[in-house]
This record gives sequence, structure tokens and C-alpha cells, in this order.
Amino acid sequence: MTVRYEWRGDFDNGSLDALHAEGFGHPPDNADWRAQLEGHSLGWVCAWDEGGLVGFVNVAWDGGVHAFVLDTVVARRLRTRGIGAALIDTAAREARAANCEWLHVDFEDHLGPFYFDACGFRPTSAGLIAL
Ligand SMILES: CC(C)(COP(=O)(O)OP(=O)(O)OC[C@H]1O[C@@H](n2cnc3c(N)ncnc32)[C@H](O)[C@@H]1OP(=O)(O)O)[C@@H](O)C(=O)NCCC(=O)NCCS
Repeated sequence: MTVRYEWRGDFDNGSLDALHAEGFGHPPDNADWRAQLEGHSLGWVCAWDEGGLVGFVNVAWDGGVHAFVLDTVVARRLRTRGIGAALIDTAAREARAANCEWLHVDFEDHLGPFYFDACGFRPTSAGLIAL
């Protein structure tokens, strides 16, 4: 299996919508991902295999030194092969190249082994308000 990682890759909305819906377990919602990402993100990473888009992560940005990982997702059939960690590695490298100093993430407890052990995030206090 060859997987290629591409910063700001040229995906189509339908492919990302389908991947996100499968990954997060919701119906496809026809979101305009392209407009959202181009308007608000530092960038994003696409993982491609010969069949198309198999992984994605959004790197949101404050316009300064803080970048935020959102929506990390890998196609179910290709999980636990290192694709998720490689997506984050690419995101971190590109954020560093853009002079960001901090890469943030929040996640549910069960994903600790992924973000801490496989991706190299270190624990910190964080907060969240459901709006
Ligand atoms: C989380 C996710 C992106 C990980 O992608 P992946 O390609 O399977 O991850 P990797 O293969 O790089 O995993 C590396 C290591 O992280 C850990 N890990 C991966 N997925 C994990 C999970 N769901 N729960 C706990 N640990 C996990 C494992 O230790 C794994 O190593 P191993 O395969 O040797 O056991 C993928 O499971 C996914 O798309 N989940 C659904 C969407 C989601 O919840 N995204 C997170 C939003 S915060």
C-alpha cells in the first residue's frame, strides 16, 4: 500500500464529506469544505492512495503562532497502519514551516494513545465551552 501525503491537497468536497461522515459516524451533510478551509485554515493535509482520499486533517490558525488540529480522520479500512500519525507529522512540519510555535489539539480520553504516544503531543490543561 502506497499512501501519499499532500499539504493543501486538491480534494473535492464530496470525497471529504464522505470520509468525514464515515469517520465520525454522521450522515453526509454536503458541507462546503473548500470554502471553509481556504477561508479559515493555515492548511490541511490529505492522504491519498490509488483509490482517492483516505485521510485528512484540518490545521486551523489564529493568524499568528497558534495552529489547531481538527477533524483528523482516516478511512476505516486503512486504520492502524500509521496514516493518522503521518497526517499529524505533516501538519506539524508545515505549521512549523509557517512559523507557528504551538500546535494544539483536544480529544476524547480514549484517543490519548494516538495523540500522546503516536503523535508526540504532551498533556496540558485545556478548556472547552459547548456553545
Ligand atoms: C484517530 C484516527 C485518526 C487514527 O488514525 P490511524 O491511522 O488509525 O492511526 P495510526 O495508525 O497512526 O495510529 C498510531 C497509534 O495510535 C494509537 N491509536 C490509533 N487509533 C486509536 C484509537 N482510535 N484509539 C486509541 N488509540 C489509537 C495506537 O497506539 C496506534 O498504534 P498501533 O496501531 O501500533 O496500535 C482514526 O482512528 C480515526 O479516523 N478515527 C475516527 C475519527 C476520530 O475520532 N478522529 C479524532 C478526532 S479528535
